[in-house]
Amino acid sequence: MFKFTRLLLLSTTLLSSSFDHLSSSSGLSVSSPLLASAVQISAAQIHARQAEAAKRWAKKSRSVNPQEAFIEKIRANQRRDGEDVDTTNSTSTPASSTTVTPSLKPKNITFADPKASQFWVNGTTIPDVDFDVGDSWSGLIPISSDPKETRKLFFWFFPPGPEGSLDDLIFWTNGGPGCSSLEGFLQENGPFSWAPGTAKPTPNQYSWTNLSSVLWVEQPVGTGFSQGTPNINNEDDLAKQVVGFLQQFLEVFAELKGKKFYISGESYAGMYVPYIANYIYSNATTLDLSLQGTWTADPSLSWDVIQQQVPAVPFVNKYRNVFAFNQTFMSLLEKTADACNYTSYTSKYLQYPPPPAPFPLPGRSTSSDRGCDVWDLIFEEALVKNPAFNIYRIFDTFPVLWDVLGFPGSFPDVQSPIYFDRQEVKKAIHAPLNTTWEECADGNVFVRRDQSTPSALSVLPNVIEKNQRTVIVHGLADFILIAEGTRLVIQKRLFKIGGGAQGFQTAIGNDTFIVDGIGSMGTEHTERGLTYYEIELSGHMVPQFSPVAAFQTMEYLLGFRSKP
Ligand SMILES: *[C@@H]1O[C@H](CO)[C@@H](O)[C@H](O)[C@H]1NC(C)=O
Ligand SMILES: *[C@@H]1O[C@H](CO)[C@@H](O)[C@H](O)[C@H]1NC(C)=O
Ligand SMILES: *[C@@H]1O[C@H](CO)[C@@H](O)[C@H](O)[C@H]1NC(C)=O
Ligand SMILES: *[C@@H]1O[C@H](CO)[C@@H](O)[C@H](O)[C@H]1NC(C)=O
Ligand SMILES: *[C@@H]1O[C@H](CO)[C@@H](O)[C@H](O)[C@H]1NC(C)=O
Ligand SMILES: *[C@@H]1O[C@H](CO)[C@@H](O)[C@H](O)[C@H]1NC(C)=O
Ligand SMILES: *[C@@H]1O[C@H](CO)[C@@H](O)[C@H](O)[C@H]1NC(C)=O
Ligand SMILES: *[C@@H]1O[C@H](CO)[C@@H](O)[C@H](O)[C@H]1NC(C)=O
Ligand SMILES: *[C@@H]1O[C@H](CO)[C@@H](O)[C@H](O)[C@H]1NC(C)=O
Repeated sequence: MFKFTRLLLLSTTLLSSSFDHLSSSSGLSVSSPLLASAVQISAAQIHARQAEAAKRWAKKSRSVNPQEAFIEKIRANQRRDGEDVDTTNSTSTPASSTTVTPSLKPKNITFADPKASQFWVNGTTIPDVDFDVGDSWSGLIPISSDPKETRKLFFWFFPPGPEGSLDDLIFWTNGGPGCSSLEGFLQENGPFSWAPGTAKPTPNQYSWTNLSSVLWVEQPVGTGFSQGTPNINNEDDLAKQVVGFLQQFLEVFAELKGKKFYISGESYAGMYVPYIANYIYSNATTLDLSLQGTWTADPSLSWDVIQQQVPAVPFVNKYRNVFAFNQTFMSLLEKTADACNYTSYTSKYLQYPPPPAPFPLPGRSTSSDRGCDVWDLIFEEALVKNPAFNIYRIFDTFPVLWDVLGFPGSFPDVQSPIYFDRQEVKKAIHAPLNTTWEECADGNVFVRRDQSTPSALSVLPNVIEKNQRTVIVHGLADFILIAEGTRLVIQKRLFKIGGGAQGFQTAIGNDTFIVDGIGSMGTEHTERGLTYYEIELSGHMVPQFSPVAAFQTMEYLLGFRSKP
């Protein structure tokens, strides 16, 4: 989630009037003559088609790159690791005699430090999850070794599934700022998912635990279950907090020391992830992990005017039939975009190779000049036409799906107890019982605001140079941060280090992201260590909306496949 306070302020009045509009004008009726004359497809025919489609997908997941050498590599690692693990004495994992659902049974990983056992989660006792998710560890760990430390971050760690690698560790954070990484856990890339609109959790076939160990962390202080009073001013402070936490974490889970490390996240984590990576690269001996690369989805990398305003009207044009705006309103948008220099900005700077930096901003403001906020104009008008309009995935229509995390679309919408705010859930995962859990924190997690310069204008080029691989992905159906804006950021800022070339030198080709067994799912382009993917039909939370594609991009990041 990318949290916008101004959106939340808009919500009450706009939504109530929009819903009034819907109920008074919908005119829907079951006895519509249109329905009566429509071609009837029987339930059996529909089921047959679904079964056919399901077979194609199942075939796909079985035939993931059989020839790739990396599979051999993983298998070899597994055998080696298996022997290592068997010699470790298990004091932390109580032996479990329950039958484990084969599909989720993780590697037999154990931690020697008796302290680890305090964090062990019984995989059969997670409320509403009616299958065994296997061993995992969760709880609060302080951000420093100071015995009086009051600031603690909440984590949930899962070992790899049966085919995953024991050599690697993925760190995941959501954005906000202030949004919980348990959102990613439960609805994006965790071992089980509880998607909006569904009755109960289900195993996630595209869990990143299929690739390696994964550590979900609620950070910075002030987010989710994490404890303490926020006292950071910028992203370096934040990185220090995370690294402090990781040091303490590795004291308890010492078997994870030395692993190959990957930092991933989405949205505002476009700030967090590069700053954390930069901190680790510039303090080489501080952390006993071997940082290899970073992965960010729909990341906040630069000024809002570039990532939201400039690309907004071209985005509406591309998805004209989804927005369904009338001619008068479309002309108003076009005129505004022209007058605010947005139209000329794209034609001038979105070129391969790009004109030399720096690119001046289109106006005076880093967000939008007076009269130039087309993004909000579009959002308000979209809600008039479609009260369920979801800025995170523009295809949603009424009704808004219920959501166990309380944040199914553009606005909070609570229709049941929030999953992580239930006492029995907190007990099961060693979360503080007296903390109210919210998907995105109400308060500010920075003392004032984040004082750091956007990552693309500061640390990201250095991080790309140091990384083995850098992956940036962007869902093409995301309106809150728009893919074309990310293209502009890449052309404008990235790689300008030590006289190296700036931006991509050759054009991003169409239909270049080939997902195994499916075909083109968007575009992919790699130059000098940076791989950029655009994913069709995906909204903001790419592992949620396009789990298969997200999984493949992670395989590439981890070096489990040679081609993106
Ligand atoms: C896991 O490893 C421990 C320690 O080597 C061993 O005692 C236990 O039997 C193993 N469990 C399984 C299910 O393989
Ligand atoms: C594991 O346990 C065995 C038997 O209790 C003991 O002899 C051995 O020293 C232990 N190994 C480690 C690494 O603690
Ligand atoms: C895990 O929970 C199940 C169900 O409550 C219980 O039967 C089992 O004994 C527990 N396992 C351990 C090791 O505590
Ligand atoms: C993930 O692991 C499960 C359990 O082994 C397996 O059923 C599933 O097919 C795997 N998914 C992928 C994408 O490899
Ligand atoms: C670690 O790196 C950060 C960011 O480059 C820097 O601000 C900080 O001073 C470094 N800390 C140490 C102990 O070197
Ligand atoms: C077109 O949309 C604008 C903005 O909502 C509205 O003011 C105008 O009345 C609409 N025109 C028609 C013909 O619907
Ligand atoms: C558009 O660009 C021109 C030329 O750089 C500048 O004079 C003008 O102020 C800009 N317009 C806006 C609305 O920022
Ligand atoms: C919750 O309880 C813990 C431990 O008793 C305490 O340290 C903490 O301050 C409490 N937090 C709140 C928000 O009351
Ligand atoms: C990709 O397709 C778009 C839309 O058809 C077109 O404008 C663009 O030139 C194409 N890009 C390349 C590199 O062929």
